[in-house]
Amino acid sequence: MLRRALIAASKSDRAERVVSSSRLTRELVRRYVAGDIGAAVAELTDRRLLVTVDHLGEEVHDRAQAENAVRAYVALLDRLPPGADVSVKLTALGLRLSEQLALDNAATICDAVTGRGITLTLDAEDHDTILGLQSVHATLRKEHPDVGIVVQAYLRDAAERCARLDGARVRLCKGAYTAPGAHTSAREIDRSFVRCLKILMSGTGYPMVATHDPRLIEIAAALAVLNGRDATAFEYQMLYGVRPAEQERLAGVGAQVRVYVPFGADWYPYLMRRLAERPANLAFFARSLLSR
Ligand code: FDA
Repeated sequence: MLRRALIAASKSDRAERVVSSSRLTRELVRRYVAGDIGAAVAELTDRRLLVTVDHLGEEVHDRAQAENAVRAYVALLDRLPPGADVSVKLTALGLRLSEQLALDNAATICDAVTGRGITLTLDAEDHDTILGLQSVHATLRKEHPDVGIVVQAYLRDAAERCARLDGARVRLCKGAYTAPGAHTSAREIDRSFVRCLKILMSGTGYPMVATHDPRLIEIAAALAVLNGRDATAFEYQMLYGVRPAEQERLAGVGAQVRVYVPFGADWYPYLMRRLAERPANLAFFARSLLSR
């Protein structure tokens, strides 16, 4: 219930005005969103962590905004080391205006990363964008085989999606939005996550295990061993500001760990989804609203 309310608030301009004006909200933003992206990437790289960078923004309303997002990503590439990844939301590239526009814009970023040792991963968003996501990914993959895609385990057909994506770079996560008919119980989502993990780990692609859940991290490690994958044949991914000690612990035992680093002014919907994931953050959030 609370989760749904927060996800709904992530799309409300009025809630955005209230939340953004609070001083304590800014403290939460500092925890989850990088201020200076160059410094954040350097600090993570020094700790032997890989990065995927998200230039915050979604739901653009015209072509000019979508083009600005492309320019921001292309400019960002000069600040990233080889081995980095960029995470891109197709709604920021104009998916809701036209699928072709989002495809063209994503292709421009794919062309720009080529030759730099940087990869691109397409984030998964609201349920009504998933068909567009799949279709854009399938087209891009013909020319850029290493373009990655996210699968949300809360979708009932997540396992079938993973099977169809054999050979691809696939980031598996639980799912941060809401979707009609999707799994809602934590137990069902976890089961679906494990079904997907089994398919990805036994397949021919590159699994990216995006979770902070200790049990799922253990299961992923065991499945990697069972399927003869060494530490270079899959990676863990976690969000900036979430379980940093665990990120370092895994990297310290030789695992590849990539941190998802969001930056930019358009942080509001991203922050609301982080709040929806973690009830303990809500007390902090409630105080931030009361203190206005
Ligand atoms: P779960 O929510 O059960 O959390 C497990 C534990 O992790 C918690 O008990 C807590 O200790 C810690 N934790 C989790 N979230 C926290 C938070 N916000 N603050 C503090 N602690 C927290 N979703 C999506 O729909 N589309 C996408 O493209 C992506 N992309 C993506 C990339 C990466 C790298 C990650 C890690 C996650 C995503 N997600 C996403 C978000 C994902 O779907 C999911 O909502 C979150 O990862 C939280 O789920 P967990 O698997 O961590 O488990």
